[in-house]
Amino acid sequence: MASPVLVIGSFVQDLTFFVERFPVAGETLVGRFVTGPGGKGSNQAVAAARAGVKTAFIGAVGQDSFGDQAEKFLTQEGIDRHFLRIPHAATGTAGITVNADGQNQIVVALGANEKFCASDIDPVLLAGAKILVLQFEIHPQTVRDLLQLAQASGKITILNPAPMNAAMDFSMLDLVDIFIPNETEFVTVMQRHPAILEKGFTEDQLAVLTTCELHARCRKLGIKTVIVTLGKRGCFISQAENSEMIPVCKGIVAIDTTGAGDAFVGGFAAGLILFEGEIGRAARYANIVAGLSVTKMGTAPAMPTKAEIDAFSNW
Ligand code: RIB
Repeated sequence: MASPVLVIGSFVQDLTFFVERFPVAGETLVGRFVTGPGGKGSNQAVAAARAGVKTAFIGAVGQDSFGDQAEKFLTQEGIDRHFLRIPHAATGTAGITVNADGQNQIVVALGANEKFCASDIDPVLLAGAKILVLQFEIHPQTVRDLLQLAQASGKITILNPAPMNAAMDFSMLDLVDIFIPNETEFVTVMQRHPAILEKGFTEDQLAVLTTCELHARCRKLGIKTVIVTLGKRGCFISQAENSEMIPVCKGIVAIDTTGAGDAFVGGFAAGLILFEGEIGRAARYANIVAGLSVTKMGTAPAMPTKAEIDAFSNW
């Protein structure tokens, strides 16, 4: 059976250090170390698969042991995974620091993730998917070409602009059905989108916008559905006919927020299939997936299973 959700994106080996507080420039701190599978694309695929929907993943790794681990991990997760093994490139790695409040700082070296193009992917692998999920840890031209292919074959396209690419070509937004930025990414889009150019717009200003004001800004993008993830405040859905603020789930104690955005995106894609395209229900589902993901350490390994999501949900 074909997988209705297809994620094309990054696999990254996460090298995570847990510390009381973030170090300042020139300082050395002693912390605890954990390594595990990560990368925004792979995390989103794991979130979608664990949330109960058959999922495929396409990405690139190097011919190294992290690449071998990536293949093994996604196979164990039951994901229909297809890795390009790129010669002379290393599998992506990320140095992550998590403080006692569960906040993170990340530096990612993309390695093999940047080194594949849309034409390297067998078109047969795209054929069965209903939804294509993309992010920005692969080459921007690859993202654009894949959006074009997906749109031409009638798939729903979801773009999570993470991490925000300084040279983003905003014209690719015309190929996006559902756009899911976080607060920082949304502010950058407002500042740089050629049709908006709200240069002085800041995250502090975003935090105090009324829902009407936020909706009006989202509408300027001309995208059918915009969902802004707002951290502790939940998420905001903006569509042509309506908008809705969905608060975060109650009773969540965050110990590591790394990958929460990926949990949301993967959970949302799964929700769209489970609830037959109902955006609001899918976003509520995604909120629970993201909420549960921060209660455990790590990124992909912290994604909740369908049983955990169902046990938490009372909707
Ligand atoms: O979104 C979290 C992810 O971003 C981490 O898994 C890390 O690999 C970076 O890519």
